[in-house]
Amino acid sequence: MMDYWILVVDDDISNLTMANNILGAEGMRVSSVKSGASAIKFLQTNRPDLILLDVYMPGMSGFETFEVIHGDERTADIPVIFLTADDDSETETRGLKAGAMDFIKKPFMPEVLLIRIRHIVELTRLQANLAQEVEEKTKEITMQHRKLESLSVHIVMALSGAIDAKDTYTNGHSARVADYSRKIARMAGFSQEMQDEIYLIGLLHDVGKIGIPDAIINKPARLTDEEYAVIKTHPVLGENILKEITEFPKLVMGARYHHERYDGKGYPSGLAGEEIPVEARIIAVADAYDAMSSKRAYRDVIPQKQVRAEMERGKGTQFDPAFADIMLKLIDADTDYDMREK
Ligand SMILES: [Fe+2]
Repeated sequence: MMDYWILVVDDDISNLTMANNILGAEGMRVSSVKSGASAIKFLQTNRPDLILLDVYMPGMSGFETFEVIHGDERTADIPVIFLTADDDSETETRGLKAGAMDFIKKPFMPEVLLIRIRHIVELTRLQANLAQEVEEKTKEITMQHRKLESLSVHIVMALSGAIDAKDTYTNGHSARVADYSRKIARMAGFSQEMQDEIYLIGLLHDVGKIGIPDAIINKPARLTDEEYAVIKTHPVLGENILKEITEFPKLVMGARYHHERYDGKGYPSGLAGEEIPVEARIIAVADAYDAMSSKRAYRDVIPQKQVRAEMERGKGTQFDPAFADIMLKLIDADTDYDMREK
């Protein structure tokens, strides 16, 4: 017993009857129509497992009918076996080239007909199952990938919160630097992916401060030279923490190089110009802007005009001039001086 549904299309009633008898005897469900046009109409509301299609019919030929079936995405994947009375190999080649699964010569040998039908229907079902399985697995993997990605972002945010919590004066510094860096990257025309990366790199640029004693980080007075030297180790400390995250090597760039200066007078490496990774050049601008526009225990908020002047002054010396220019544009657009620690 085979639970197949076969559509037979043939203008010759005796052929239809014969097909019906052979297939019906095997438990198959058979629908028969006498022309290409009726087959197409039938297929609008029915979906058989396979079509036996006569090549020579009055009206639409088998090939013309096949073209319509094959060209419609709703029916394109129903396998078609052509029925032909002649021994013409050219006809056969033409049909197979068009995408038919097989040819069977009339009058049918019942055994041959059944074997070919079974073979093709099973193959088609297997393919469909496989395609569905691949689709399901792909969906599953995409979901897992998204979850993992969102988990990574949350871990980075939690870590950045931990850095900021340690430093009582610079509440929310990392988050603001990340935000400003992303804005600069967007205005510089960087891809969405790069903007998202720069945001995360910005969040962790000061991660090395976790390794600096609280007494130095939170000292309410001016730092001694020794203390300042300790603070200056935070980029390398940060690099050592982040280099463990081998899946995202750029994280290291922000932490290690954000205190480099465009003129080469920064630390820890004294890199100049484009030697400094682009992420670090962007973060340097955002970092300096946030330092100036945030409250400090020992001073009031610096007026926006003065912040702007400092940014202008550092162009080409402390900062990459292109990114400093973008920061100046952001400052000029911020008429209420909203872009700062709240
Ligand atoms: Fe820093």
